Amino acid sequence: MLQIETIADLRAACDRARANGQRVGLVPTMGFLHEGHRSLMRAARESCAVVVVSLFVNPLQFGAGEDLDRYPRDLSGDLAQCEQEGVDAVFAPSVAEMYPSGRPVTTVHVDGLTAGLCGAARPTHFDGVATVVTKLFAVVGPCSAFFGRKDAQQLAVIARLVEDLNLPVDVVGCPIVREADGLALSSRNAYLAPDQRRAALVLSRALEAAAQAVVLGERDARVLVDIVRGLVSNEPEVALEYVEVRAAHELTPVDLLDGDVLLALAATVGSTRLIDNVVLSVRGAEVHADLGTGASRREGAGK
Ligand code: PAF
Repeated sequence: MLQIETIADLRAACDRARANGQRVGLVPTMGFLHEGHRSLMRAARESCAVVVVSLFVNPLQFGAGEDLDRYPRDLSGDLAQCEQEGVDAVFAPSVAEMYPSGRPVTTVHVDGLTAGLCGAARPTHFDGVATVVTKLFAVVGPCSAFFGRKDAQQLAVIARLVEDLNLPVDVVGCPIVREADGLALSSRNAYLAPDQRRAALVLSRALEAAAQAVVLGERDARVLVDIVRGLVSNEPEVALEYVEVRAAHELTPVDLLDGDVLLALAATVGSTRLIDNVVLSVRGAEVHADLGTGASRREGAGK
Protein backbone atom coordinates (compact mmCIF):
# COMPACT_ATOMS: atom_id res chain seq x y z
CA MET A 1 0.00 0.00 0.00
CA LEU A 2 1.38 3.39 -1.00
CA GLN A 3 1.43 6.05 1.72
CA ILE A 4 1.38 9.45 0.09
CA GLU A 5 1.69 12.86 1.69
CA THR A 6 2.06 15.23 -1.24
CA ILE A 7 -0.30 16.31 -3.97
CA ALA A 8 2.43 15.81 -6.59
CA ASP A 9 2.98 12.16 -5.57
CA LEU A 10 -0.75 11.46 -5.41
CA ARG A 11 -1.32 12.98 -8.86
CA ALA A 12 1.57 10.97 -10.31
CA ALA A 13 0.30 7.67 -8.82
CA CYS A 14 -3.24 8.26 -10.07
CA ASP A 15 -2.02 9.39 -13.51
CA ARG A 16 -0.01 6.16 -13.76
CA ALA A 17 -3.03 4.05 -12.84
CA ARG A 18 -5.28 5.74 -15.38
CA ALA A 19 -2.56 5.50 -18.05
CA ASN A 20 -2.58 1.74 -17.41
CA GLY A 21 -6.30 1.73 -18.09
CA GLN A 22 -7.19 1.18 -14.43
CA ARG A 23 -10.35 2.66 -12.91
CA VAL A 24 -9.46 4.75 -9.87
CA GLY A 25 -11.93 4.89 -6.96
CA LEU A 26 -11.67 7.54 -4.25
CA VAL A 27 -12.92 7.24 -0.66
CA PRO A 28 -12.54 10.67 0.97
CA THR A 29 -12.46 10.51 4.78
CA MET A 30 -11.34 12.49 7.79
CA GLY A 31 -9.79 9.37 9.29
CA PHE A 32 -10.52 7.68 12.63
CA LEU A 33 -11.90 4.96 10.42
CA HIS A 34 -14.73 2.62 11.35
CA GLU A 35 -16.82 -0.04 9.68
CA GLY A 36 -18.78 2.61 7.77
CA HIS A 37 -15.60 3.81 6.05
CA ARG A 38 -14.55 0.23 5.44
CA SER A 39 -17.86 -0.44 3.69
CA LEU A 40 -17.01 2.45 1.33
CA MET A 41 -13.61 0.89 0.61
CA ARG A 42 -15.28 -2.42 -0.20
CA ALA A 43 -17.80 -0.71 -2.46
CA ALA A 44 -14.92 1.03 -4.24
CA ARG A 45 -13.09 -2.26 -4.67
CA GLU A 46 -16.12 -3.78 -6.42
CA SER A 47 -15.85 -1.43 -9.37
CA CYS A 48 -12.32 0.03 -9.26
CA ALA A 49 -8.92 -1.59 -9.85
CA VAL A 50 -7.20 1.09 -7.77
CA VAL A 51 -8.69 2.30 -4.47
CA VAL A 52 -7.42 5.54 -2.96
CA VAL A 53 -8.41 6.60 0.57
CA SER A 54 -7.78 10.15 1.76
CA LEU A 55 -7.30 10.84 5.48
CA PHE A 56 -7.54 14.55 6.10
CA VAL A 57 -9.24 16.45 8.91
CA ASN A 58 -10.25 19.42 6.78
CA PRO A 59 -10.09 22.64 8.82
CA LEU A 60 -12.16 24.47 6.21
CA GLN A 61 -15.32 22.56 7.10
CA PHE A 62 -15.19 23.32 10.85
CA GLY A 63 -16.78 26.49 12.15
CA ALA A 64 -15.49 28.63 15.01
CA GLY A 65 -15.94 26.80 18.32
CA GLU A 66 -16.46 23.41 16.64
CA ASP A 67 -14.41 20.30 17.38
CA LEU A 68 -11.51 20.70 14.91
CA ASP A 69 -8.84 20.53 17.61
CA ARG A 70 -10.26 17.55 19.43
CA TYR A 71 -11.51 15.65 16.36
CA PRO A 72 -10.27 12.05 16.93
CA ARG A 73 -7.16 11.07 15.00
CA ASP A 74 -5.37 7.72 14.75
CA LEU A 75 -3.10 7.57 11.71
CA SER A 76 -1.47 4.23 12.50
CA GLY A 77 -4.84 2.58 13.22
CA ASP A 78 -6.26 4.05 10.00
CA LEU A 79 -3.31 2.79 7.95
CA ALA A 80 -3.73 -0.70 9.43
CA GLN A 81 -7.44 -0.74 8.50
CA CYS A 82 -6.71 0.45 4.96
CA GLU A 83 -4.06 -2.24 4.62
CA GLN A 84 -6.57 -4.89 5.80
CA GLU A 85 -9.07 -3.68 3.20
CA GLY A 86 -6.49 -3.99 0.43
CA VAL A 87 -6.46 -0.26 -0.30
CA ASP A 88 -3.85 0.66 -2.92
CA ALA A 89 -2.95 4.16 -1.78
CA VAL A 90 -3.58 6.28 1.29
CA PHE A 91 -3.27 10.05 0.98
CA ALA A 92 -2.62 11.69 4.36
CA PRO A 93 -1.51 15.25 3.64
CA SER A 94 -0.67 18.02 6.11
CA VAL A 95 -2.87 21.09 6.32
CA ALA A 96 -0.03 23.08 4.71
CA GLU A 97 0.06 20.66 1.78
CA MET A 98 -3.67 21.10 1.14
CA TYR A 99 -3.84 24.82 1.89
CA PRO A 100 -0.31 26.23 1.32
CA SER A 101 -1.44 29.84 1.51
CA GLY A 102 -3.66 29.34 4.56
CA ARG A 103 -7.36 29.93 3.96
CA PRO A 104 -7.90 29.60 0.20
CA VAL A 105 -9.44 32.57 -1.59
CA THR A 106 -11.11 30.24 -4.06
CA THR A 107 -13.84 28.06 -2.59
CA VAL A 108 -16.76 26.04 -3.94
CA HIS A 109 -20.25 27.05 -2.86
CA VAL A 110 -23.32 25.02 -3.76
CA ASP A 111 -26.27 27.36 -3.39
CA GLY A 112 -29.64 26.37 -1.97
CA LEU A 113 -28.86 22.79 -0.94
CA THR A 114 -26.50 24.06 1.73
CA ALA A 115 -28.89 26.56 3.31
CA GLY A 116 -31.05 24.47 5.65
CA LEU A 117 -30.74 21.22 7.61
CA CYS A 118 -27.13 21.08 8.90
CA GLY A 119 -26.30 24.24 6.94
CA ALA A 120 -28.53 26.28 9.26
CA ALA A 121 -26.31 25.63 12.29
CA ARG A 122 -23.09 25.18 10.28
CA PRO A 123 -23.25 27.95 7.66
CA THR A 124 -19.69 27.50 6.34
CA HIS A 125 -19.49 23.72 6.66
CA PHE A 126 -20.57 22.68 3.18
CA ASP A 127 -18.36 25.24 1.44
CA GLY A 128 -15.44 23.59 3.25
CA VAL A 129 -16.61 20.12 2.23
CA ALA A 130 -17.30 21.11 -1.38
CA THR A 131 -13.91 22.81 -1.67
CA VAL A 132 -11.82 19.96 -0.29
CA VAL A 133 -13.75 17.33 -2.26
CA THR A 134 -13.31 19.34 -5.47
CA LYS A 135 -9.57 19.60 -4.75
CA LEU A 136 -9.35 15.84 -4.16
CA PHE A 137 -11.25 15.18 -7.40
CA ALA A 138 -8.86 17.51 -9.25
CA VAL A 139 -5.78 15.68 -7.96
CA VAL A 140 -6.98 12.06 -8.01
CA GLY A 141 -9.17 12.21 -11.13
CA PRO A 142 -11.31 9.33 -9.83
CA CYS A 143 -13.80 7.49 -12.02
CA SER A 144 -15.97 7.02 -8.93
CA ALA A 145 -16.05 8.49 -5.45
CA PHE A 146 -17.78 6.87 -2.50
CA PHE A 147 -19.65 8.62 0.31
CA GLY A 148 -21.84 7.39 3.17
CA ARG A 149 -25.55 8.18 3.11
CA LYS A 150 -25.46 9.14 6.80
CA ASP A 151 -24.21 12.51 5.55
CA ALA A 152 -27.23 12.78 3.27
CA GLN A 153 -26.95 16.53 2.76
CA GLN A 154 -23.23 16.24 2.00
CA LEU A 155 -23.99 13.56 -0.59
CA ALA A 156 -26.65 15.75 -2.25
CA VAL A 157 -24.26 18.73 -2.28
CA ILE A 158 -21.43 16.73 -3.84
CA ALA A 159 -23.72 15.12 -6.43
CA ARG A 160 -24.94 18.59 -7.39
CA LEU A 161 -21.48 20.15 -7.66
CA VAL A 162 -20.35 17.27 -9.87
CA GLU A 163 -23.40 17.81 -12.08
CA ASP A 164 -23.08 21.60 -12.24
CA LEU A 165 -19.32 21.58 -12.90
CA ASN A 166 -19.49 18.60 -15.31
CA LEU A 167 -16.88 16.73 -13.31
CA PRO A 168 -16.24 13.26 -14.79
CA VAL A 169 -16.86 11.44 -11.50
CA ASP A 170 -19.55 8.96 -10.62
CA VAL A 171 -20.71 9.85 -7.08
CA VAL A 172 -21.77 6.68 -5.26
CA GLY A 173 -23.83 6.86 -2.06
CA CYS A 174 -23.41 3.84 0.22
CA PRO A 175 -25.79 2.62 2.96
CA ILE A 176 -25.53 3.87 6.54
CA VAL A 177 -23.77 1.30 8.71
CA ARG A 178 -25.23 0.88 12.20
CA GLU A 179 -24.28 -0.90 15.38
CA ALA A 180 -26.52 -3.87 16.19
CA ASP A 181 -28.54 -1.61 18.52
CA GLY A 182 -29.18 0.93 15.74
CA LEU A 183 -26.62 3.65 16.49
CA ALA A 184 -25.30 5.00 13.19
CA LEU A 185 -21.51 4.68 13.03
CA SER A 186 -19.65 7.97 13.29
CA SER A 187 -16.13 8.94 14.30
CA ARG A 188 -17.79 11.35 16.75
CA ASN A 189 -19.40 8.43 18.65
CA ALA A 190 -15.98 8.20 20.33
CA TYR A 191 -16.90 11.35 22.29
CA LEU A 192 -19.94 9.67 23.92
CA ALA A 193 -19.81 8.49 27.53
CA PRO A 194 -21.66 5.17 28.07
CA ASP A 195 -24.85 6.85 29.35
CA GLN A 196 -24.78 9.32 26.45
CA ARG A 197 -24.33 6.50 23.97
CA ARG A 198 -27.38 4.77 25.45
CA ALA A 199 -29.38 8.00 25.26
CA ALA A 200 -28.32 8.54 21.62
CA LEU A 201 -30.14 5.34 20.63
CA VAL A 202 -33.38 7.32 20.77
CA LEU A 203 -32.39 8.91 17.45
CA SER A 204 -32.43 5.74 15.35
CA ARG A 205 -35.44 4.45 17.30
CA ALA A 206 -37.37 7.65 16.56
CA LEU A 207 -36.51 7.42 12.85
CA GLU A 208 -37.55 3.80 12.83
CA ALA A 209 -40.87 4.64 14.53
CA ALA A 210 -41.55 7.32 11.93
CA ALA A 211 -40.63 4.89 9.14
CA GLN A 212 -43.02 2.35 10.63
CA ALA A 213 -45.80 4.96 10.57
CA VAL A 214 -45.15 5.48 6.85
CA VAL A 215 -45.25 1.74 6.25
CA LEU A 216 -48.64 1.74 8.00
CA GLY A 217 -49.91 4.46 5.67
CA GLU A 218 -48.93 7.85 7.13
CA ARG A 219 -47.98 10.38 4.42
CA ASP A 220 -48.06 13.69 6.30
CA ALA A 221 -44.54 15.01 6.89
CA ARG A 222 -45.66 17.00 9.96
CA VAL A 223 -46.86 13.81 11.64
CA LEU A 224 -43.46 12.17 11.10
CA VAL A 225 -41.69 15.21 12.51
CA ASP A 226 -44.01 15.09 15.55
CA ILE A 227 -43.31 11.38 16.09
CA VAL A 228 -39.55 12.03 16.14
CA ARG A 229 -39.87 15.15 18.31
CA GLY A 230 -42.11 13.31 20.78
CA LEU A 231 -39.79 10.34 21.22
CA VAL A 232 -36.62 12.40 21.43
CA SER A 233 -38.18 14.75 23.98
CA ASN A 234 -38.47 11.76 26.35
CA GLU A 235 -34.69 11.55 26.47
CA PRO A 236 -33.41 14.50 28.55
CA GLU A 237 -29.76 13.97 27.53
CA VAL A 238 -30.62 14.52 23.84
CA ALA A 239 -31.42 17.94 22.37
CA LEU A 240 -32.89 17.87 18.89
CA GLU A 241 -31.42 20.54 16.60
CA TYR A 242 -33.74 19.81 13.67
CA VAL A 243 -35.87 17.09 12.20
CA GLU A 244 -37.13 17.64 8.67
CA VAL A 245 -38.60 15.88 5.69
CA ARG A 246 -37.02 16.81 2.37
CA ALA A 247 -36.92 15.46 -1.18
CA ALA A 248 -34.06 12.95 -1.10
CA HIS A 249 -31.95 14.44 -3.90
CA GLU A 250 -33.03 18.07 -4.35
CA LEU A 251 -33.53 18.56 -0.58
CA THR A 252 -36.63 20.71 -1.17
CA PRO A 253 -39.18 20.72 1.67
CA VAL A 254 -41.91 18.06 1.48
CA ASP A 255 -45.41 18.23 2.98
CA LEU A 256 -46.89 14.99 1.68
CA LEU A 257 -44.69 11.96 1.14
CA ASP A 258 -44.36 10.79 -2.44
CA GLY A 259 -41.29 9.38 -4.22
CA ASP A 260 -37.91 9.31 -2.46
CA VAL A 261 -37.90 11.44 0.67
CA LEU A 262 -35.35 12.00 3.37
CA LEU A 263 -36.32 12.18 7.04
CA ALA A 264 -33.21 13.72 8.57
CA LEU A 265 -32.25 14.95 12.01
CA ALA A 266 -29.39 16.42 13.97
CA ALA A 267 -29.13 16.41 17.74
CA THR A 268 -26.64 17.05 20.46
CA VAL A 269 -25.91 14.59 23.23
CA GLY A 270 -23.91 16.53 25.78
CA SER A 271 -21.54 18.48 23.54
CA THR A 272 -21.51 15.84 20.78
CA ARG A 273 -23.44 16.65 17.62
CA LEU A 274 -24.88 13.62 15.84
CA ILE A 275 -26.82 13.28 12.59
CA ASP A 276 -28.96 10.45 11.30
CA ASN A 277 -31.61 9.82 8.67
CA VAL A 278 -33.83 7.36 6.88
CA VAL A 279 -34.71 7.45 3.18
CA LEU A 280 -38.33 6.55 2.53
CA SER A 281 -39.30 5.49 -0.97
CA VAL A 282 -43.03 5.92 -1.35
CA ARG A 283 -44.71 4.67 -4.53
CA GLY A 284 -48.46 4.81 -3.92
CA ALA A 285 -49.17 2.27 -1.18
CA GLU A 286 -45.73 0.68 -1.54
CA VAL A 287 -43.07 1.84 0.91
CA HIS A 288 -39.42 1.00 1.28
CA ALA A 289 -37.62 2.46 4.29
CA ASP A 290 -33.84 2.39 4.12
CA LEU A 291 -32.25 2.85 7.53
CA GLY A 292 -29.02 1.25 6.32
CA THR A 293 -27.23 -1.94 7.20
CA GLY A 294 -27.35 -3.51 10.65
CA ALA A 295 -30.86 -2.10 11.07
CA SER A 296 -34.26 -3.21 9.91
CA ARG A 297 -35.40 -2.43 6.41
CA ARG A 298 -39.13 -2.02 6.48
CA GLU A 299 -41.26 -2.66 3.45
CA GLY A 300 -44.97 -2.68 3.21
CA ALA A 301 -48.18 -1.63 1.59
CA GLY A 302 -49.88 1.22 3.42
CA LYS A 303 -53.56 1.59 4.24
O1 PAF B 1 -17.55 12.95 5.26
C1 PAF B 1 -16.39 13.30 5.58
O2 PAF B 1 -15.68 12.60 6.28
C2 PAF B 1 -15.86 14.64 5.10
O3 PAF B 1 -16.86 15.60 5.09
C3 PAF B 1 -15.18 14.56 3.73
C4 PAF B 1 -16.17 14.15 2.63
C5 PAF B 1 -14.04 13.55 3.78
C6 PAF B 1 -14.59 15.91 3.35
O4 PAF B 1 -13.65 16.33 4.27
